[in-house]
Amino acid sequence: MPSTPLIAPSILSADFGQLADAVHHLESAGADWIHIDVMDGHFVPNLTVGPPIVEALRKVTTLPLDVHLMMTNPDDFIGEFAEAGADYLTVHVEACPHLHRTLQCIKEHKVKTGVTLNPATSVSTLEQVASEVDLILVMSVNPGFGGQKFIPSCLEKISQVRQLLKRSQGPGLLEVDGGVNLQNAGAIIKAGADVLVSGSAIFGSDNYSQTIQQMRTSGETTTV
Ligand code: DX5
Ligand code: ZN
Repeated sequence: MPSTPLIAPSILSADFGQLADAVHHLESAGADWIHIDVMDGHFVPNLTVGPPIVEALRKVTTLPLDVHLMMTNPDDFIGEFAEAGADYLTVHVEACPHLHRTLQCIKEHKVKTGVTLNPATSVSTLEQVASEVDLILVMSVNPGFGGQKFIPSCLEKISQVRQLLKRSQGPGLLEVDGGVNLQNAGAIIKAGADVLVSGSAIFGSDNYSQTIQQMRTSGETTTV
């Protein structure tokens, strides 16, 4: 676990006509990673970006690119995303009937492996891979859109994943994505999160730097 949580702003809330500027702004505001949401219109009811945007952003920042694949058949695109410069490729357990093979494929492309699960999917689906992934992402909204409300029952799920990571003694970081804001970040960190994804709460604030810093330290002042 990192000593202070990492903040990964999601560019889903950015102005897509000014993406490079948005990433520069986030970088100078102290973001740790850049979270890129890939949606295919099948696995989730929305369409966003693909490898060309990852490649373009790779050229404008040295921050790790955390690519969240909300798509069916992610295996078909792992090579392209790897070549585009993704640092993490995170796939959904619900979209991967051969999850172990998919993770092997990501490793073969020398990219860090991430696995994620929707709010209705049980933590038990991760048992067999928890010891070998670099990242477990707990979705705290149903994927597809930014600006949704954090689902409170996900706090218990974050604790369960933290226990699983402890038991399996793997290297994985625990990331949380969806509805994360300054009001709930402290509780999410206390429940065991290492990395917080946040889109609308950062992009909707007047001062990215202050919001990122407050989010990062909010676990220190939360007592629950
Ligand atoms: C939702 C995406 C999230 C989203 C988070 O499907 O995976 O990364 O951009 O946005 P906020 O923080 O607004 O919920
Ligand atoms: Zn995401």
